[in-house]
Order: sequence, then structure tokens, then C-alpha cells
Amino acid sequence: MADAAPTAGGVARPTMAAAGANTSPAGQSAPAGRAADVERTIVVLLGPPGAGKGTQGEQLAAALGIPKVATGDVLRAAVRDGTSLGQEAQAFMERGDLVPDPVILGIMKEALSQPATVRGAILDGVIRTVPQAEGLQAVLEQLGRVTTVVLVFAIDDDVLVRRISERTVCEACQTPYTGHHTGTACPKCGGRLVRRSDDEPTAVRQRLAVYHAQTAPVITWYKTHGVRVVSIDAVGTRAEVQARVLRAFSR
Ligand code: AP5
Repeated sequence: MADAAPTAGGVARPTMAAAGANTSPAGQSAPAGRAADVERTIVVLLGPPGAGKGTQGEQLAAALGIPKVATGDVLRAAVRDGTSLGQEAQAFMERGDLVPDPVILGIMKEALSQPATVRGAILDGVIRTVPQAEGLQAVLEQLGRVTTVVLVFAIDDDVLVRRISERTVCEACQTPYTGHHTGTACPKCGGRLVRRSDDEPTAVRQRLAVYHAQTAPVITWYKTHGVRVVSIDAVGTRAEVQARVLRAFSR
């Protein structure tokens, strides 16, 4: 797991020393100037709950030296802090439903206007409906940018349910863990590990249903709009999945 510190704007800045901003997608040391290759890269991570978007997104952000933006993390922080955004989003999230598109578009615009994302960004779970994909395209057009690649994490529902049932997350930095008990300290930041309220079985079933009904059509939308879509087999060790993700950048 790479180090990444969330900021108020919802942008996680990769710690360059963790994996190296100057590390090539193949995981090898890269020559000076390599950073220019990933300049303005916009990566959209799509996949069902528990597929590993957050886990792989952090590693990819560190490998490419660009920040990760995760709407789920932004919303959970807002709920925790009791902001008006959090109050608006909380009930949707606890049921396992999607937060309304205008709310997400606002977060997306704010994140992409931050200096930290000028060089590029990994968008983890930011796009879950066709109107959100259209909204991102409009924002990127205004900025003179395009979506570089969409990575779709492919995995069966029964594996996801098992992963989520074993997950704890850090209340502070939101890093997910398997095999760490609630109430213990986060190995990364010392925060308290908790269960997410939307990781209970009823909400998980709803999140899966929402994914298949509302997010899966986004894959077709990207394919028909000329954006490169790469399916990633998300079953295997974290390292195996990471290697598949990095291969998507090697051609
Ligand atoms: P969000 O927090 O994004 O939840 P999600 O999409 O359901 O995804 P998860 O965080 O559950 O899973 P993940 O794919 O990141 O997997 P992880 O790496 O943790 O969103 C939460 C809610 O916010 C939504 O339901 C919605 O209400 C709202 N929201 C957010 N964005 C929105 C939007 N754009 N529009 C509308 N509403 C929005 O991995 C899972 C577990 O598996 C972990 O324990 C991990 O350690 C483990 N693991 C990871 N990789 C592996 C592996 N290879 N092998 C074994 N275990 C692994």
C-alpha cells in the first residue's frame, strides 16, 4: 500500500518516496523526464464495490506520481466532519445508493481545478453513471484534456462479498485492510480501524445491484465514445493485480 495523504480538496497526494514519481509503469526506475510521459494523464477506475479500486488506485497514483481522487473518501470524510455535503450524502451512502449526480459533479470539478491535479489524476469511483461520464468529459474539454484510459476491475460478486466481509478501514486515512480487527491502530497513520456502515450485508447487496444497473452501462458509454477501456482481472494477489494494471500503461 502506497502512502497517500488526503487533502481538504479530496485529492490524495502520493508520497513520491513511496513508489517514486519517477518510477515507470512497469515498476522500473525511469530516466529523468519520465514524468512528462504521464503529464495530464486522466485514469478512470471502474468496478464493483470491493473490487480493489482503492487499493490499486493508491499504488497506481504512487507509481505514476499523480494524485488519486476518490469520491467515496471525500464523502466519508464529509460525513465524519458533519459538513453540509456529508449531511446530504449520508443517507444515500448508508443505504448503498448513489449520491445524486450534481453533488458528484461538484466534487469532481473542484478536484480537477486543484493545482495538484494539473499533471493528471487517478479517478477512483468518481464515475458511476452515464451523466457523470458526460459531466467529466465536459469538464475535461474545458480544461483541454481527455480521459486517457478507463480501467474496469472484473471480479465475481461472491469474491467481493467475501472481501468486504473481511474489510476494516482506517477512520482517519481511509486505507482498507483485510485481517485487521476493528479498534486496532492503522499501521499507516495510527488512526482507529472501523467497519464501514455500508459494508453490512443489506447495503452491500444494494451497492452491487446499483453497480450492475447504473455503473456497468458506463463501460459501454466509454467504448462508444472512443475512449480506451481495459478490463483488469481483479482476482489474484494485490501484486498480481498491480502488474496487470501497470501493463495497461505499457503499450
Ligand atoms: P466507495 O468508497 O468508492 O465504495 P465502492 O465503490 O463500493 O468501493 P469500495 O471502497 O467498497 O471497494 P474498492 O473497489 O475500493 O476495494 P478496496 O480496495 O477497498 O463509495 C462509497 C459510496 O459513496 C457509494 O456506495 C456511494 O453511495 C457514494 N459514492 C461514491 N462515489 C460516488 C459517485 N461517483 N456517484 C454517486 N455516489 C458515489 O478492496 C476491498 C477489500 O479487498 C479491502 O479489504 C482490501 O484490502 C481487499 N483487497 C484489495 N485487493 C485485494 C486482492 N487482490 N486480493 C484480496 N483482497 C484484496
